[in-house]
Amino acid sequence: MAEVLKAGGAQVSIAGSNPLSTQDDVAAALAVAGLNVYSWYNATDEEYKDHLLNMIDDGPDIVIDDGGDVVQLLHTERTDLAKKVLGGCEETTTGVLRLRALERQGGLKFPMIAVNDAYCKYLFDNRYGTGESVWSGIMRTTNLICAGKTVVVAGYGWCGKGIAMRAKVWEQRLLLQRLIQ
Ligand SMILES: NC(=O)c1ccc[n+]([C@@H]2O[C@H](COP(=O)([O-])OP(=O)(O)OC[C@H]3O[C@@H](n4cnc5c(N)ncnc54)[C@H](O)[C@@H]3O)[C@@H](O)[C@H]2O)c1
Repeated sequence: MAEVLKAGGAQVSIAGSNPLSTQDDVAAALAVAGLNVYSWYNATDEEYKDHLLNMIDDGPDIVIDDGGDVVQLLHTERTDLAKKVLGGCEETTTGVLRLRALERQGGLKFPMIAVNDAYCKYLFDNRYGTGESVWSGIMRTTNLICAGKTVVVAGYGWCGKGIAMRAKVWEQRLLLQRLIQ
């Protein structure tokens, strides 16, 4: 997406939306392609905040946020630069909750599109995307397979529904395996 925006004529500055999500090889490739990249993998909390502030200091007209940290810093530590922002969008449930809280207090300084409220976002990304990737994360980090395990899902929103749905698939696979045996 960043490369497409640049090809369309935008000046693009980019940073990871959490300290673990940046892939250094991807960041390096984007930098070579002419984007302003302010991230490295496994940043400390201080480094992560510096990355976001350095990115904000490029003076954005439009903000594409994921979790709400950029908009929060614009409203707290870079209020002068917030005046220049025309608007933006926010992808996640958490970020939209933070924006709504800010709006209720009358503090939101520019319009934001709540991407998470689109059916094609939460019916697809939250339910199927997160439902699947949570299990792949658990299995990779614990080196366990989940078939036959008892699972408790705390929180039954769109992500919780997707996680439970995938757990059900593990159960069905186990039953199928037993039938075949
Ligand atoms: N990493 C990703 O790719 C990704 C993608 C989508 C969502 N998310 C995150 O996952 C989280 C859930 O998103 P969602 O779209 O399912 O939200 P949601 O609002 O649809 O669901 C959240 C659920 O949690 C329940 N809940 C809240 N507090 C609780 C508590 N203390 N104990 C038990 N249940 C509680 C709510 O009642 C609700 O049913 C958010 O933090 C969101 O930002 C991550």
